[in-house]
Amino acid sequence: MASITLNKIVKTYDDGFTAVKGVDLDIADGEFVILVGPSGCGKSTLLRMIVGLEDISDGELRIDDEVVNDKAPKDRNLAMVFQNYALYPHLTVYENIAFPMRLKSSDLSDEEIDTRVRRASKLLELDEHLERKPANLSGGQRQRVAMGRAIVRNASAFLFDEPLSNLDAKLRGQMRTEIARLQRSLGITTVYVTHDQTEAMTLGDRVAVLRRGELQQVASPRGLYDQPVNLFVAGFIGSPPMNFLSGTVVRGADGDVLRLPIADVPLDDRLRAAVEGRDLVIVGVRPDAFEDADATERDLTGGVTTELDIEMTEWLGEVLYAYVPYETDATVKEKLSELDRDLDGESLRTELVVALDAMSTVRAGDAARLWFSPDALHLFDPETGVNLTRDEAKAEKLEEDARAARKRALERAKERAAREGQRA
Ligand SMILES: Nc1ncnc2c1ncn2[C@@H]1O[C@H](COP(=O)(O)OP(=O)(O)O)[C@@H](O)[C@H]1O
Ligand SMILES: [Mg+2]
Repeated sequence: MASITLNKIVKTYDDGFTAVKGVDLDIADGEFVILVGPSGCGKSTLLRMIVGLEDISDGELRIDDEVVNDKAPKDRNLAMVFQNYALYPHLTVYENIAFPMRLKSSDLSDEEIDTRVRRASKLLELDEHLERKPANLSGGQRQRVAMGRAIVRNASAFLFDEPLSNLDAKLRGQMRTEIARLQRSLGITTVYVTHDQTEAMTLGDRVAVLRRGELQQVASPRGLYDQPVNLFVAGFIGSPPMNFLSGTVVRGADGDVLRLPIADVPLDDRLRAAVEGRDLVIVGVRPDAFEDADATERDLTGGVTTELDIEMTEWLGEVLYAYVPYETDATVKEKLSELDRDLDGESLRTELVVALDAMSTVRAGDAARLWFSPDALHLFDPETGVNLTRDEAKAEKLEEDARAARKRALERAKERAAREGQRA
């Protein structure tokens, strides 16, 4: 097991393109870190530099306390689990798992190989499949065989590059749970790359968000969701994504308000501090911040109720999505289309998406009374995209809670393993 430390890691390819621009990241021993970002942001490049398949142009990579920039992949003792499984179709599951130990470079006895294969197969619940060929296995089972291969090498860390992207949605969900469970019970340091924010949010202890080769934020899933550092992270994390609206500060005799295309929001202390020195901000509000004012049992005091025309609704059983068209202020449009390009076209809607209680009777064509709390608004600088409402104390508390939860989960996994060991 090992810790992995990235210190100002840079990758400039031979054609002069800099794909990774000075990434700092500390991955603790036993930790499960997710690297997430849109396609082309440098995730695979970073992972390949860690494992040694790609030279590091600048910066320092350490495994435990040793600098390994110039070490060959085999001397780093990290195991890459590839997306396409790379299993040998003519070999049994047993031989596929044993494969890395049969290479010339390893001089293990048949007995030792057998012990290791059986230990991995037990962990991965592959015992009854050991004599089968990969072609006859399900995608999930094949994935486990690929992990078995990594386990038998006693690698000090696992590296995954989008291992689930070829699987269908249902299996992806199952494999996600499986990988999370395995990682916890094995306690092996793991770096997992994905472009899928849902995968990132459900898997990782800590998620590192990458944009165009630059690290934006490293935090727990909740930290990213509630306290994003900037527009990019806010727009990338969450599904359906955060809504972005223009917000103009209007100072009036009846008090100052933040004017959104959907409502005027009185400036409370928090919002006032955030807009200080600005007339215009980008306002982010998540779909789930809204309530149907006529259907909710929530206390609506202190919030803003506004009547909006519903263009379309989608009822999904547990939630009702309603779509509300609005005009975006021309001045923030450019920033938002830049964000849109970064996010592969997922954010620039001129429609507000609201997630209402499934009991809501709001339908297309209605003028609905929707409610939101000003506390749910995130304000961003329209030029830099910095989150002006980020609360450092709350953010730190979320990270503390996440660390505590992880510790409990690891302890429970250990107890479970001990119990199962006794039974066996
Ligand atoms: N061998 C290479 N030579 C030049 N540019 C490359 C090479 N490999 C990748 N790139 C570029 O580096 C960027 C990051 O690529 P990659 O790490 O594969 O992104 P991701 O895995 O996040 O989709 C992309 O713009 C890609 O085109
Ligand atoms: Mg990639």
